[in-house]
Amino acid sequence: MTASKRSVGVIGAGAMGSSMIRGFLKAGLARPQDLTASDPRKGALQELHKSVSVNITGDNTALAQRSEVVVIAVKPDQAPKVLQEIAPFITLEHQVFSIAAGVSIAAIERHLPAGVSVIRAMPNVPALIGEGMTVLALGTNSGPEERESAEKLFSALGKVLTLKESDLDAVTGVSGCGPAYMAVVLEALADGGVKMGLSRQVALDLAVQTMIGAARLIQITGEHPASLKDRVCSPGGSTISGVHVLENGGLRGLLISAVEASTRRSRELQ
Ligand SMILES: NC(=O)c1ccc[n+]([C@@H]2O[C@H](COP(=O)([O-])OP(=O)(O)OC[C@H]3O[C@@H](n4cnc5c(N)ncnc54)[C@H](OP(=O)(O)O)[C@@H]3O)[C@@H](O)[C@H]2O)c1
Repeated sequence: MTASKRSVGVIGAGAMGSSMIRGFLKAGLARPQDLTASDPRKGALQELHKSVSVNITGDNTALAQRSEVVVIAVKPDQAPKVLQEIAPFITLEHQVFSIAAGVSIAAIERHLPAGVSVIRAMPNVPALIGEGMTVLALGTNSGPEERESAEKLFSALGKVLTLKESDLDAVTGVSGCGPAYMAVVLEALADGGVKMGLSRQVALDLAVQTMIGAARLIQITGEHPASLKDRVCSPGGSTISGVHVLENGGLRGLLISAVEASTRRSRELQ
């Protein structure tokens, strides 16, 4: 049975949970009447119901009973409590997903009845606009069929890859934390424009479109980033002068160290 044919419940209608619901609806993976959101915040739930007509509840156990696919989208420290709460209502017909960072598959499976399909997912914040990068890791009771339905479900949020659970800390270091690194780079690039006399808005617009354009060019053509850089750097020109400054400042080493630090921190937080 594929995710698109099933009732889906999302526990935690915060930033990621509500984006997932909107993404599932937009991709036609579920009808509003087959989607349920639960959250203690009544206002957020009512807003979601008003805008996309999904079912809402403050009761996670009611959600578990009416949803075959259950997505846990609460903060990591809330996940054990939610799992304990829903466990008596989870059957082998359910498929359970968790996007809670650092909560291992083993910890999730420990709370649930033996044999339930569990999948961990690490999305990132551009999922809010359907441009996310989600990496999935399959639990011990998830095979090719569950993988296929999970990839279909999360493709509503952007791109999806399935890797080993042991890769998820490094994934957190690259795509989980990456949007913050890119935001820092964008802000600095715009600051450079402001320093050289452009208005803040113009400088930011130029920086944003340049980052999107360069990334999309590499994504669409498959060209290696080094080759794109070489093509843009004409001999004795302005681009190679700027690249020289970036190399002197150690930009590459800094980004590599940032990913290393985030990966280590992600491991420590478990
Ligand atoms: N944001 C990201 O970029 C990102 C990326 C990858 C993974 N994640 C993971 O996604 C999860 C959610 O993150 P988020 O940014 O969406 O957080 P969020 O905006 O705080 O959303 C979590 C929601 O869950 C609600 N909640 C708390 N306890 C609950 C319970 N017992 N039952 C039902 N709902 C409950 C919270 O309500 P209250 O506010 O009242 O507590 C809040 O509305 C986290 O585990 C995070 O690790 C997030």
